[in-house]
Amino acid sequence: MPAKSRSAEASRSPVVTSVQPASADAGAARGDDGVRTLRCGVIGVGRMGRHHARIYKELESVELAGVVDDSEDRREAIADQHGCAAYERVDELLAAGVDAVSVAVPTSHHLEVAIPFLEAGVACLIEKPMASDGVEAQRLLDVADRTGAVLQVGHSERYNPAVRALQRERVKNPAAGGIVPRFIEVHRVSPMTFRSVDVSVVFDMMIHDLDVVLMLMDGAEPVDVQASGVPVITEHADVCNARLTFDRPQGRCVANITASRLALKTERKIRIIGDDSYVSIDYAKKAGVVIRRTANTLQLEEVREALRDGADLSDLNYGELVTVEDLAIDDAEPLKMQIEAFLEAVRTGQRPEVDARAGFAAVRTAERIVEAMKADW
Ligand SMILES: NC(=O)c1ccc[n+]([C@@H]2O[C@H](COP(=O)([O-])OP(=O)(O)OC[C@H]3O[C@@H](n4cnc5c(N)ncnc54)[C@H](O)[C@@H]3O)[C@@H](O)[C@H]2O)c1
Repeated sequence: MPAKSRSAEASRSPVVTSVQPASADAGAARGDDGVRTLRCGVIGVGRMGRHHARIYKELESVELAGVVDDSEDRREAIADQHGCAAYERVDELLAAGVDAVSVAVPTSHHLEVAIPFLEAGVACLIEKPMASDGVEAQRLLDVADRTGAVLQVGHSERYNPAVRALQRERVKNPAAGGIVPRFIEVHRVSPMTFRSVDVSVVFDMMIHDLDVVLMLMDGAEPVDVQASGVPVITEHADVCNARLTFDRPQGRCVANITASRLALKTERKIRIIGDDSYVSIDYAKKAGVVIRRTANTLQLEEVREALRDGADLSDLNYGELVTVEDLAIDDAEPLKMQIEAFLEAVRTGQRPEVDARAGFAAVRTAERIVEAMKADW
């Protein structure tokens, strides 16, 4: 049976504020492949956290040391399922010794849960959004900077195979088909689930797209933010449209982002128009296409010339005129890839791709959108 810290004695244990990450010592356990075994934990095993626990359990060279949850039923059920310890409090998991944890409690508790781990130098993968506001996100960032603890933010769309394929295309040299975005159109709409209703649709849903758009802008934040939103069912905006303007050395780009939790259908799409290419990604279907001007130069020149000469091209089928390429997309599980990237950062000490600064920038942009929206009300 797995160890369980349910006893009254255990729950009276003092708060541990400083412990060494479990396998910081040179004699740490190693798997068959010689890779250092990391002791991992999950705090909050609700809808998201239970998947983090499952993946830690499945991965090689990882030991799922324990889970923490306020709900006794939930922590015991997940601990029984995976044969790990169940703890009522964060300090108990910390005292048991861990190298890395996922923080998957509701966003309003991210700060209080993550700080003791970061202070102890334990790596944290904090679910998105990083924090409830910019002040809390800044505190998390500052503590991670001071202690050197790895901090990754769970913007899982970054690991959506379609977004990874988009990123591969984008970072190519422009001459080789790389994409310099000029206009970005995003739609993320779904029916009301009555979850995360304590925050607006911006922090609940649009935050995913803000992270992807900021990635496309190489981390640059918008120089101008305009937004409109309407609270319909909850106290917060349930639908929002934001127009973000970016000024970069490569030129100006505008992102027009719509998020709604009032729709009758589910749609999650991003379209990127660059000087030389157009990319359309369906996050939900994990599919994407790219149309390049270079692949269609001759046809487009002929069309332009014909239009100049006043030709009637209304019979021309635009879809047949342009060459559409499917993006090469694999079927990897985004959350698993995200956790693998996190553990790689823990092992190598390298800064994770979706680091504290990226998480902070997404929260700060979300806050600016909420402020712009409220100025309208
Ligand atoms: N990446 C994604 O696509 C995605 C999707 C949904 C939710 N999320 C994020 O994941 C986080 C969790 O959301 P969820 O939908 O899983 O919530 P949830 O309510 O289903 O689960 C949260 C769990 O945390 C526990 N909990 C609450 N406060 C705690 C505390 N202080 N200490 C220990 N346990 C505590 C609750 O008992 C519950 O079991 C949120 O930050 C949310 O924004 C991310």
